[in-house]
Formats: sequence, C-alpha cells, structure tokens
Amino acid sequence: MTQRVLFVCLGNICRSPLAEGVFRHLVTERGLDDRIEVDSAGTGGWHVGEGPDPRSLEVAVRNGVSLDGQSARRIENGDLADFHWVVAMDTDNERDLRRLAEASGEARIHRLRDFDPEGAGDVPDPYYGGPQGFDVVYAMVERSCRALLDRVEAELGR
Ligand code: 4NP
Repeated sequence: MTQRVLFVCLGNICRSPLAEGVFRHLVTERGLDDRIEVDSAGTGGWHVGEGPDPRSLEVAVRNGVSLDGQSARRIENGDLADFHWVVAMDTDNERDLRRLAEASGEARIHRLRDFDPEGAGDVPDPYYGGPQGFDVVYAMVERSCRALLDRVEAELGR
C-alpha cells in the first residue's frame, strides 16, 4: 500500500516545506518515489500560495535538497483522513491538529521529533530569528526524517 505523509507547521513556509523537501529527497534516495507520497501544510492561512521562505530555500540548496514546486496551503479537514502520517513540527501544531480531529487521540498525528534519535521536543519556529536558526532546524528535521522514513518504510510491506 502507498503511504502518504503530511508535514504540518504554522505558516507552511519555513519548517514543513523543509521537512517535505528533505523527506522526499530521502524517499528518492531509497528508490521509493512510487510507494510514498509527501506533502506539507500550515495550520494558519497567512501565507497561502507563497513559496518557501528564502532562508529555508538557502539551507535546503546548501544541503542538496530541492524545494521546487512547493506552495503554501492550509490544512483541510480531509487531510486527517487522507494521510497515514500527519507530522507536526511543534506542540502547538499538534494541539491544533488534535482540535481539528475533535480532540481525539488520533493515532496518525505525531510530532516530528518524537522520531529524533537525539531526543524528542519541538522544531522551534525560526521565522523571527536569524539564519542560524534555520541550520538548527535543518539538522533536527534531517535526522528525524531519516528515522521517520524507517518507520514508514516498514509499513509498506504490510
Ligand atoms: P513556519 O514559520 O510555521 O515554520 O512556516 C512561520 C511562518 C510564518 C509565521 C509564523 C511562523 N507568521 O506568523 O507569519
């Protein structure tokens, strides 16, 4: 069965576009493009239709990851049913997603750093910080996405 993975942050211009790009890059590296679909969305609607923040683009390109073709969108009700994995960047995003799921303990909602081999926590919002914040975010996203992909890949054969 195809696995569908959705990354979610607040604006869908900084963190979740990076996670989408990194995860897709890893999926391609493992030859799984036709088995795993990747997307991202924001809980807020301020930046709908915009491309990723230039600072996210910069750190992605520097690490050989493409964010081409991405454009911000807001999470929709149907997303929670459509995607097998709904992966929030921080506790606020997770809370908003659970509200959208009517506060249920919806099993498919996770926080990205629950998969971080260096320990759980939030991917901090880098929007109002300096560019070095994006390097910190990138490193967290990259190592968490690798571990998440191990889990998603394990579901493919089931
Ligand atoms: P993101 O960062 O959630 O990682 O995309 C933000 C982008 C925009 C805003 C906040 C966070 N904003 O307030 O416009």
